Amino acid sequence: MLRTVVVVGTLLLGVGAVAAQQDQVAKTQLAMKSNGKNAGALSAMLKGEKPYDQATVDAALAALEDVAVKFPTLFPESIKGLKPEGDYYASPKVWTDRAGFEAHAVSFAKAVTEAKGKIKDLDTLKARLSTIGKECGGCHETYRVKNS
Ligand code: HEC
Repeated sequence: MLRTVVVVGTLLLGVGAVAAQQDQVAKTQLAMKSNGKNAGALSAMLKGEKPYDQATVDAALAALEDVAVKFPTLFPESIKGLKPEGDYYASPKVWTDRAGFEAHAVSFAKAVTEAKGKIKDLDTLKARLSTIGKECGGCHETYRVKNS
């Protein structure tokens, strides 16, 4: 009897841990999608699809910064090797080359923070977004993998 309780308890713990991991994978992916959405809002203005709007710029930068400072905590050891639904997943290098990954996160956060308050019109937006965009691409090149 006691043994059964222990076994069932252990199984439940296992299920809870897996659910928590999947939860984290989903949260991480949501944060990554938020990056895409906010960068997209900025580039829509550059492409002339939307008029320049200071409130949108400021909100997008704040949201990007929010993800940027959380980057390392969004990829804990517990989700290593787990793949979210969708087009992309994190390369194992996020964990095997942790120092490199975190360095990219820091320089991304720096580019975003430095842009805050500096974007005033389309010209300044263009210059800053190009710097930020290079940070996105630079990290993806090594640490993001396309689902095939
Ligand atoms: C420090 C590394 C790093 C930086 C900087 C970074 N990303 Fe990512 N990004 C990742 C990783 C790793 C993934 C794959 C994990 C995932 O999709 O859950 C990812 C996934 C994505 C995805 C795919 C989400 C999906 O649907 O699966 C988008 C879109 C994205 N990033 C946009 C951006 C944009 C835009 C920027 C810059 C504003 C950016 N990222 C900056 C590491 C980074």
